[in-house]
Amino acid sequence: MKIQSVRGMQDLLPAQKEVFRFIEDTARQILASYGYEEVGLPFLESTDLFKRLVGEATDIVEKEMYAFEDRNGDNIALRPEGTAGCARYALQNGLIFNQVRRLWYSGAMFRHEKPQLGRYRQFDQIAAETYGMPGPDIDIELLLLNLKLWRQLGLDKDIHLQVNSLGSLESRQIYRSRLVEYLTQHESALDEDSRRRLSTNPLRILDSKIETTRAVLSEAPLLTDFIDDDSRQHFAELCRLLEDNGVQYTINPFMVRGLDYYNKTVFEWVTDRLGAQGAVCAGGRYDTLVEQIGGRPTSAVGFALGVDRLALMLEGDFVFGPYADIYLVSAAGEARARALSTAEALRKAMPDRSIVVHCGDGKFKAQMKKADASDARLAIILGEDELAAGKASVKLMRDDGRQEQVTFGRLGQYCAEYFEHNQAEK
Ligand code: HAM
Repeated sequence: MKIQSVRGMQDLLPAQKEVFRFIEDTARQILASYGYEEVGLPFLESTDLFKRLVGEATDIVEKEMYAFEDRNGDNIALRPEGTAGCARYALQNGLIFNQVRRLWYSGAMFRHEKPQLGRYRQFDQIAAETYGMPGPDIDIELLLLNLKLWRQLGLDKDIHLQVNSLGSLESRQIYRSRLVEYLTQHESALDEDSRRRLSTNPLRILDSKIETTRAVLSEAPLLTDFIDDDSRQHFAELCRLLEDNGVQYTINPFMVRGLDYYNKTVFEWVTDRLGAQGAVCAGGRYDTLVEQIGGRPTSAVGFALGVDRLALMLEGDFVFGPYADIYLVSAAGEARARALSTAEALRKAMPDRSIVVHCGDGKFKAQMKKADASDARLAIILGEDELAAGKASVKLMRDDGRQEQVTFGRLGQYCAEYFEHNQAEK
């Protein structure tokens, strides 16, 4: 029996991986330009960290976490998200006490969700977390950074910003009891999942996509009417800053997010190009989280974007680079050894070019076919005649297959000049 991949785990083919790399390289460059520092976080954290911070009654912790006892009997979990771990990391390493920090990280997250297009059990996030800044100025910085990334990826026309304010934890408590009161009166019209959530996590009912439940919600009290003055002012200022910066957005009063740690600003960047998995990036403020793991009160806000989802949006129109610029074709034996050393010298002369040596069997004709398939612009041919003459044959694959004889001493310069003169074609 063949062993297959584990359900929900994606195998990324080289072309897909190239899109992932493109997204990460673009994000890395933008994050650096805003002064964010990259951090390396572990995949495994104590299960308690997520229970306490993300919330025991959230889907992520209650239903989706890969949590287990390790060989010592310790309760650990594969990280379902990075915000809790990053705060733990920043606190433990003394990065946030009395300091302002802008951090970022990337990598795999794990959630045992029902797999479908755009939703996987292992998926990649690129995320930023900031500490020590209480005002909406940093909220808007994160959103502008996001927008810059969509622009650079060519996706800004397809991704739209939704924002909301959750108020303080206290004002949310008051709202929560009013909502429960209202929904209990209409309990029979709610779907089963929402009825269950009435006692566990009633705010999540606001996210429901079920029509009968949505009908009940249309008359429900609105969180916006309960938020405290400080949060209201923060939100008004954020909206003003969005307008000043020409960022289009909508206020979604039903957005509550699936993690418990948020207060004040929450946001999601959504697209309608991915069906049900429309959120490509999400985040918000979490000013009480650091305290919950034993730190001093620390303002914090951040986002995480879903690389897999952005990659799906890009895959269709992505132009993949050739996998070789130069392909070396050679006879077995002495000529092959010369091909290997020639390629080393060429890589040294042109570190940005990809140079492939044909290895293994293959007659010249078969090797030339491989050179063609690799999309290489130059094929360098080393046969016994060439070795005897101290020259390589260079075939210009795009210029009617013209072939020229070049001495080994001049080969590096010849190839470099060829690419320089034909730059536009790359
Ligand atoms: P989240 O909304 O759970 O937030 O995830 C952020 C993004 O990760 C989503 O918008 C989506 O693009 C992607 N994502 C989530 N689950 C999956 C999945 N199963 N498959 C593919 N992509 C997925 C957080 O994780 C928070 N830690 C964000 C944050 C950072 N808040 C403050 N700082």
